[in-house]
Amino acid sequence: MHKNQSIIICFTFKAKSKFEYVRKFEQSDQLLPQCWLVVRVDGRGFHKFSERHEFAKPNEPRCIRLMTLAARRVLMEHRSILLAYGQSDEYSFVLHKDTNAFNRRASKLASLIGSLFTSAFVFNWSICFPDRRLLYPPAFDARAVAYPSVRTLRDYLSWRQADCHINNLYNTAFWSLVLRGGLSANQAQERLKGTLAADKNELLFSQFGINYNNEPEVYRKGSLLVRASLLDSQVDAVAEEASVGDNVPDVGEASVEEVSEIAAKVAKAEAESASTLLHIDIIKDKFWTENPRIL
Ligand code: GTP
Ligand code: MG
Repeated sequence: MHKNQSIIICFTFKAKSKFEYVRKFEQSDQLLPQCWLVVRVDGRGFHKFSERHEFAKPNEPRCIRLMTLAARRVLMEHRSILLAYGQSDEYSFVLHKDTNAFNRRASKLASLIGSLFTSAFVFNWSICFPDRRLLYPPAFDARAVAYPSVRTLRDYLSWRQADCHINNLYNTAFWSLVLRGGLSANQAQERLKGTLAADKNELLFSQFGINYNNEPEVYRKGSLLVRASLLDSQVDAVAEEASVGDNVPDVGEASVEEVSEIAAKVAKAEAESASTLLHIDIIKDKFWTENPRIL
């Protein structure tokens, strides 16, 4: 670099424009220290999105797979995420309480995780829906919240799993009445008004021969992705294929030595970022006491 050039760059770097003061309008949104951070993404208008894309009712397995592929991508990219829990059109990502990722800024964390999740959802669409065109670009909102203790964090996760259970039981009963019982949506809604969980279980069994407890766990419990390196107990992991572009480096014109070096790096990155997919109870203590290194 020419001597004069460096002087000019130095000068322009140091000089503050008269507009600089507007920075002061930016508010700090740093989340509290030593709190567990949770970023939850949720599909915008997925009621309409699922109708337009003719999702199976009440559960579309291809969409569940796509959501999990997108979540895996987020875990690969953001190493301070310990686990993620997803159900319906949402995924919650839990970051370690000591993380300093993005200076713990709520807007940075939420926007980066939300946008990566959304782009990965679109990027992998054709893998999960090879015969269905994406009709318009979906969006996911994202929020970041700090939880001050393991208790509040676990209560947060329990809340999301309880939501999964309540909605799935209702939806299973509702769509059985409509699709198999021949009721209109209004009639099914009326039929289920005021019913308790036991009533819905009984209705499913007596009218449709469905034992709700035998419904697939992925629908009843949602999906938990945990960093494999943090698991202690023997768990029934669910195998899944990788998504397009996962850990596939562009080796271009690289030599044999360079390619093997890249392959070794990829293998290391894969081992570090590996996550295990589970469909299990996270409300009871069992999973947490058997895997004490997660939280
Ligand atoms: P906002 O999040 O407020 O924008 O509204 P939303 O329409 O996304 O509703 P919400 O997030 O409360 O709920 C998600 C909705 O997505 C459900 O009510 C269903 O209508 C739909 N949905 C999610 N997963 C499935 C699925 O597997 N099959 C079908 N048929 N619908 C689904
Ligand atoms: Mg939604």
